[in-house]
Amino acid sequence: MQIQTGILTISDRAARGEYDDLGGPALKAAAAGYDWKVVAELLVPDEKRDIQRAIRELINKGCHLILTTGGTGVARRDVTPEAVLAIATREIPGFGEAMRMKSLAITPNAILSRSLAAEVDQALVICLPGKPAGAVECLSFVVGAVPHCVKVLQAVPTSC
Ligand code: MTE
Repeated sequence: MQIQTGILTISDRAARGEYDDLGGPALKAAAAGYDWKVVAELLVPDEKRDIQRAIRELINKGCHLILTTGGTGVARRDVTPEAVLAIATREIPGFGEAMRMKSLAITPNAILSRSLAAEVDQALVICLPGKPAGAVECLSFVVGAVPHCVKVLQAVPTSC
């Protein structure tokens, strides 16, 4: 199964054009390396409504997998986990656990990351840190479970 992937950068400063979005392109390259088809990329500020609208837009475009970067830390404007969990059917906690466990061997600040994965409709949403290298690293720690997870979520009927 070809995994249709959407990429969502969540950053106030990148959305205002104060700096280039480096996280989105880094995740796009990583996704291509895993042989996933990137069908859309979006960039939004750290606003819950914008994040939720963007995720729904990516799902409507047929994404099975959505990779977000940014807003997972503890800064006042970091709201990615809250935005995603508010529209999720359920969290899949092993993703966040694995990302923090492996990242802690690289940086003590990984303990500040609230990275997670959740099911939204039938899509797998993985929320990764904002630093491009951190996002790509964290994805590499969980990539082995992604194809099976996407397949199982896509097999679930939406209604009975
Ligand atoms: N995880 C890995 N593997 N590599 C990193 O560089 N950066 C950390 C952490 N997780 C990092 C990491 C830092 S500095 C922060 S503040 C948190 O992720 C949250 O990042 P965010 O607020 O940009 O989403």
